[in-house]
Amino acid sequence: MEQVKCNTASASYDIIIASGAWQKCKDFSGRKLLVRDGNVKNPGIEADGEIVLTPGEQYKTFSAVESICRKAAQMHLNRKDRFIALGGGVTGDLTGFAAAIYMRGINFIQIPTTLLAMVDASVGGKTAADLPEGKNLIGAFHQPDAVLIDPEFLTTLSFTDLTCGLAEVVKTAVILDGKFFDKLEQLGASLVETPDFAVRYPELIKRCCELKSMVVASDEKENGLRAILNYGHTFGHAVEQLSDFTIPHGVGVAIGMTVAGTLAADLGMWKNNDASRQLELLKKLRLSTAIPRRFTPEQILEVMRSDKKNDASGIRLVLPDGIGSARVVSGVQERAMISALEKCYD
Ligand SMILES: NC(=O)c1ccc[n+]([C@@H]2O[C@H](COP(=O)([O-])OP(=O)(O)OC[C@H]3O[C@@H](n4cnc5c(N)ncnc54)[C@H](O)[C@@H]3O)[C@@H](O)[C@H]2O)c1
Ligand SMILES: [Zn+2]
Repeated sequence: MEQVKCNTASASYDIIIASGAWQKCKDFSGRKLLVRDGNVKNPGIEADGEIVLTPGEQYKTFSAVESICRKAAQMHLNRKDRFIALGGGVTGDLTGFAAAIYMRGINFIQIPTTLLAMVDASVGGKTAADLPEGKNLIGAFHQPDAVLIDPEFLTTLSFTDLTCGLAEVVKTAVILDGKFFDKLEQLGASLVETPDFAVRYPELIKRCCELKSMVVASDEKENGLRAILNYGHTFGHAVEQLSDFTIPHGVGVAIGMTVAGTLAADLGMWKNNDASRQLELLKKLRLSTAIPRRFTPEQILEVMRSDKKNDASGIRLVLPDGIGSARVVSGVQERAMISALEKCYD
C-alpha cells in the first residue's frame, strides 16, 4: 500500500493507493450515497443509495449535479453523511460539486477509475460542471475526505483513455520533477505496450499525487503556483475546442505541450534537446503531437485570446524552463506563438 498526505489550508486527507483501496470506505461513518459512472462496475462498495451517471463529458451538466442533490434529499442525507464518487474525472468533478453545495457542504470520497482521475482530477479539490458556453464554468473548491485509488480499475480502461492519462503524467514530470521524467523515459513504450497495472503504475500514480499535493498545499485556490498545472492546456484547449472536442483532452495536452515546448526553445527558455526529449516521450506513449492541418495558427490564437486565464498583458502561458521546472509567462509576442505553431504541424 502506498499513502500520500494532502494538506491544504482548508483540509487534510489521505490518498491511498492499493489493490482494494475502495474497501476503506467502510471506515467512514454516516450514510453513503454512491455516485457511479455507468461504465464502471461497483466492486463491492456498500452504500445506502446509488445514482448512476450517464458517461461522457457532454453529461457533465448542472442538471447532473441537481440529480445527485435530489437523490441525497430523497434519502434525507444530512451533513454527517457522505457522497462517494466512483468513476473518472467527470464523475469526480460532478460529485464534488454536488457535495460542495448540498446543505452548503457535505463530505465526499473520491474513488477514481481512470488514469487521468488517479493522477490529477481526484486530488486537489477543484470541482465543476460545464455550461453550453464553456467547460468547467461553474464549480467550487471542495476537498474530499479521502482519495482511494485501486489501480486494478485501469485494466478495463480503453487504450485512448490510458494514453490520455499518461499525457498528464508527462505534464506533471516536465513542470515539477526532472528525475521522474528520466524514469518515464526509461519505462517508455512499455507503459503502453505491457502496462503492469499492479506493479509499475502504483509508483507512478503515487509520484503524481505527491507532486500535485505539494502544489495544492502551497496554493489551494490557484493564486500562483497552481497555475503551472495548466502546462500544455492553453494551446491544447484551443485545439480541442476547434475540433468540437472530438480530439480527446489528453491528446490536446500532448499537442499543447509540444507547441509550448517548441516556443520555450525558440525563446531560449529551455534547450532544443529538452523539447526533443519531451516530443520523443510523448510519441513513445503513442500520443499524437502534431496539430491537425485543418486548424490554422490564427484560428488557434483566436480561441486562446478569449481564455478565462488571460490578464491585461495578453495571453498567459505556462512555459518550461528546464525538465522539471516551469513558470507562467505573459506578454509573449503573438508572432513568436505563430512561429512555434507553424513548426508543429504534421
Ligand atoms: N478537478 C480537477 O482538478 C480536474 C483535473 C483534470 C481534469 N478534470 C476533469 O476530468 C474530466 C476528464 O476525466 P476523465 O478523462 O477521467 O474522463 P471521464 O470521466 O469522462 O472518463 C473517460 C471514459 O472512461 C470511462 N471509464 C471510467 N472508468 C473506467 C474504467 N475503469 N474502465 C473503463 N472505462 C472507464 C468513462 O465512462 C468515460 O467514458 C474532464 O471533465 C476534466 O475537466 C478535472
Ligand atoms: Zn488536463
